[in-house]
Amino acid sequence: MIPTDFLQDALQRYCEQHSEALPYYLTELERRTHRTTLAPQMISGHLQGRLLSLLSRLRRPRCIVEIGTFTGYSAVCLSEGLSSEGILHTIDIDDQYQPFYDYIREQVPQSHQIKFHSGDALEIIPKLQGPFDLVFIDGAKKDYLRYFEIIEERCSPGCLLITDNVLWSGKVLDAQADKETSVLKEYNQMLLHHQDWNVTIIPFRDGISVAVKVN
Ligand SMILES: C[S@@+](CC[C@H](N)C(=O)[O-])C[C@H]1O[C@@H](n2cnc3c(N)ncnc32)[C@H](O)[C@@H]1O
Repeated sequence: MIPTDFLQDALQRYCEQHSEALPYYLTELERRTHRTTLAPQMISGHLQGRLLSLLSRLRRPRCIVEIGTFTGYSAVCLSEGLSSEGILHTIDIDDQYQPFYDYIREQVPQSHQIKFHSGDALEIIPKLQGPFDLVFIDGAKKDYLRYFEIIEERCSPGCLLITDNVLWSGKVLDAQADKETSVLKEYNQMLLHHQDWNVTIIPFRDGISVAVKVN
């Protein structure tokens, strides 16, 4: 078989070169993430970041909730679409990424609209003021259904629900699924059949689903 990985890499580079250029602080955030964290592959990165930014700019949300800040890359991308008085709440259970948030506060023009919360999203979200116009779920996969349960009642009509890792390295096709894969399979089924949401799965990276609240 002819190896095609080089083609994938070349196409990835081509897509990046022909997508909106990044502000210096996003390039620097990604560089620092790769240099100083143990699982840098968790970062959204250039193309997924541009997709998040685009979706946010289309929706112009007043209130965004992100579950899983990590080093703040996706939070910054999503904040690009906030309305002028809007606010983005981003939550992470792990507090080791504070230096990244300090960097964002120093460098990102709209950082005054980003609120970093430290703790379990399942405990913090009920205390946030809604309604939510855009939600990005990117926390612990085993909790995806629980995240959905606590956000859905508080989502505005037309809310965008973006969920990362919904293909879970292709494991959603496995008949014998582990715990996380089982939750992801159930989550995808649930959204597909939910009368209040219309969903599309985009087979990009680890699979990202975009749903809109229609009722
Ligand atoms: C895949 S990373 C997020 C990546 C980030 N959204 C990005 O695109 O750059 C997942 C993060 O979720 C956090 N996390 C896991 N369980 C959580 C919970 N219950 N509440 C808040 N954050 C959680 C982890 O600590 C980790 O930093």
